[in-house]
Amino acid sequence: MELIRRPRRLRVSQAIRDLVHETDIHTNDLIYPIFVVEGEHVRTEIPSMPGIYHYSLDTLETHLKEVWDSGVRAVIFFGVPDHKDAVGSGAYDDNGIVQRALRLTKGLYPQMICIADICLCEYTSHGHCGVIDGACGKVLNDETLALLAKAALSCAKAGADIVAPSDMMDGRIGYMRKVLDENGCEDTLIMAYSVKYASAFYGPFRDAADSAPAFGDRRSYQMDWRNKKDAIVETALDVSEGADILMVKPGLPYLDILKTVSDKFMLPMCSYQVSGEYAMIKAAALNGWIDEKAVVTEAVTAMKRAGAKMIITYYAVDIARWLKEEEAYDKE
Ligand code: PBG
Repeated sequence: MELIRRPRRLRVSQAIRDLVHETDIHTNDLIYPIFVVEGEHVRTEIPSMPGIYHYSLDTLETHLKEVWDSGVRAVIFFGVPDHKDAVGSGAYDDNGIVQRALRLTKGLYPQMICIADICLCEYTSHGHCGVIDGACGKVLNDETLALLAKAALSCAKAGADIVAPSDMMDGRIGYMRKVLDENGCEDTLIMAYSVKYASAFYGPFRDAADSAPAFGDRRSYQMDWRNKKDAIVETALDVSEGADILMVKPGLPYLDILKTVSDKFMLPMCSYQVSGEYAMIKAAALNGWIDEKAVVTEAVTAMKRAGAKMIITYYAVDIARWLKEEEAYDKE
């Protein structure tokens, strides 16, 4: 019997390994999340996400220059409003914090791809992603749709190139598409959080967005991570309703789902390396327990290998910088 060996191409040299390797991460794969808040001179680090900050519009301007200079060309905004109410009206206020951030960003960097996360949880006093039936405490799916569509339209009008509904209500993509089309926003893309599990990995984000549910949890509308088949059904619905880009979230723990969805649906895929994934890598790196750059690069490359074209990551600006450094080094 023939002896099975490591492939010859791996043994010979780094140059050969580079010649034959399959997957690379590029700066144009990256989407950088930004938390915007009301007020002035705010640049407050999020305790569970060292290196990630809340920005008011004035400090955002300075930060955007760093982002632009790094080469990152896509950002996704999350708003943390001062005022929250039962129906999340900040989400669809034309003068809301995200709407203003969009106008500012598009004014300064018209070429920056601006994505608006569309959800009510950062804007509701109860922290749920939809409106609540006072009597039974349940999230009201159909009543929420109109509000989400209003938020999407308001963000599109403020300059969002892409709206990204993360609420997980049923029928939201079709509803939103119709409202966008009827109001002259036919060219606004929809990036659907198609597969969003009810994950404990969102913990640091909820600190950052002050959006932890005041009662109950999100398991009646986010997905059960013990299941894979739901991912296919949820995605098929979003595709049929007109989604342009599909997302699987969280990232690394869900590569099997990403691969399945990517193989099945012929739309570009996005993977979201969420706040808990960031926090774990960052904490270990700050303790000197792991090589941050190597671990981050490996994690995002794995997401691409599993089928993602785009990756939303709090490390986007760092990765872009590392890629630039390598390019400069290669030229020497
Ligand atoms: C809003 C939303 C969440 C995230 C993105 N959009 C939080 C949640 O569903 O509770 C999480 C992102 C992250 O953890 O980085 N619904």
